[in-house]
Amino acid sequence: KVVAVIMVGGPTKGTRFRPLSLNIPKPLFPLAGQPMVHHPISACKRIPNLGQIFLIGFYEEREFALYVSSISNELKVPVRYLREDKPHGSAGGLYNFRDLIMEDSPVISHIFLLNCDVCCSFPLPEMLEAHRKHGGMGTLLVIKVSAESANQFGELVADPVTNELLHYTEKPETFVSDRINCGVYIFTPDIFNAIEGVSTQWKDRADLRRLSSFESLHSATRNAPTHFVRLDQDILSPLAGKKQLYTYETLDFWEQIKTPGMSLKCSGLYLSQFRFTTPHLLVSGDGTKSASIIGDVYVHPSAKIHPSAKIGPNVSISANARIGAGVRLISCIILDNVEIKDNAVVIHAIVGWKSSIGRWSRVQASGNYNSKLGTTILGEAVTVEDEVVVINSVVLPHKTLNVSVREEIIL
Ligand code: GDD
Repeated sequence: KVVAVIMVGGPTKGTRFRPLSLNIPKPLFPLAGQPMVHHPISACKRIPNLGQIFLIGFYEEREFALYVSSISNELKVPVRYLREDKPHGSAGGLYNFRDLIMEDSPVISHIFLLNCDVCCSFPLPEMLEAHRKHGGMGTLLVIKVSAESANQFGELVADPVTNELLHYTEKPETFVSDRINCGVYIFTPDIFNAIEGVSTQWKDRADLRRLSSFESLHSATRNAPTHFVRLDQDILSPLAGKKQLYTYETLDFWEQIKTPGMSLKCSGLYLSQFRFTTPHLLVSGDGTKSASIIGDVYVHPSAKIHPSAKIGPNVSISANARIGAGVRLISCIILDNVEIKDNAVVIHAIVGWKSSIGRWSRVQASGNYNSKLGTTILGEAVTVEDEVVVINSVVLPHKTLNVSVREEIIL
């Protein structure tokens, strides 16, 4: 049997995702109309002999309860949320729940470990097959990125013939390689011994230091919590070049979702993937009574859209949204209970829950996903009055805009 573990992090981790993370845990923010974590979870469906899926995080349990029970029913695979009392790091978190994860231990052969904040096609069965071929303790999904962007990730060097991971450095200051760690792994249960090895090693060192007369000199290191273990720096780096770790390179799409702007880009990537995986989730523009639809668009069944509106590409409209006559939407995420009044235009923007956009108003941005104000974000319950223009701006929850703004953060 195979189990899958998805690391969802916790509230302190989502700060770059503000103001959207003020309302909802980042892993539940909708991309292409589905919670972010839904995409890796539904990719797990393709794993042969999948026994269980675990989400590990330090958000309150109740925040995930509803989603976890509905997805378990839908997939017919048990999905459980395991709450850490505090962050243990990406490897420490996994280790913390080893007994639960390995409940069916004699029959568990492999563990998939996925970061929740990555957007890709999750080629999990292909990784399992590659892993079976070359053996070892684990296989990492890797991708080639531009040399300029590689330093935001774990950079690595792999043997071009055997695919063995030869060298790994996390977010290095000087360029090492344009192959990076995608945050998607498959391991054998030996990973738990490797994590245990690292923490025992640290504990022993700390004990030694405590005995030595240099105690005060080393107090900073000594106080470092030994239960906090990072998968990348503490496990992958030291194990590289030891014939234990291998790589599987994807040629598909891959992005990391740290900011609201990137969530809009990734929403579009998932919408285009729906064409191949779940086309029934996309609206088609051929219904005579429906609005004109361009490209990939998701609309929740409860949303009401005027037939004269024009929508797409890359638009996701959540529950109970109301879209008025003559409205134009391009590249945007419209969240629950939003009202967009007649003839308003929304381009490259995320419109927060219960917000309202007035008649003939424009809410837009340049669409540069890498720049801070390249996507306009309206937090929860923001009111943009009639004929107001909001460009390249971020508006915090519960604000009313009655004058136009440009390149501003409205606190
Ligand atoms: N449960 C739990 N507990 N989850 C955690 C913890 C923790 O203590 N710390 C991090 N995570 C989760 C995050 O929510 C995220 O999904 C994943 O683990 C990795 O987060 P970070 O450790 O903050 O690393 P990163 O996202 O900056 O970079 C990692 O992922 C990149 C790919 O997206 C590294 O592994 C990079 O090398 C890699 O390129």
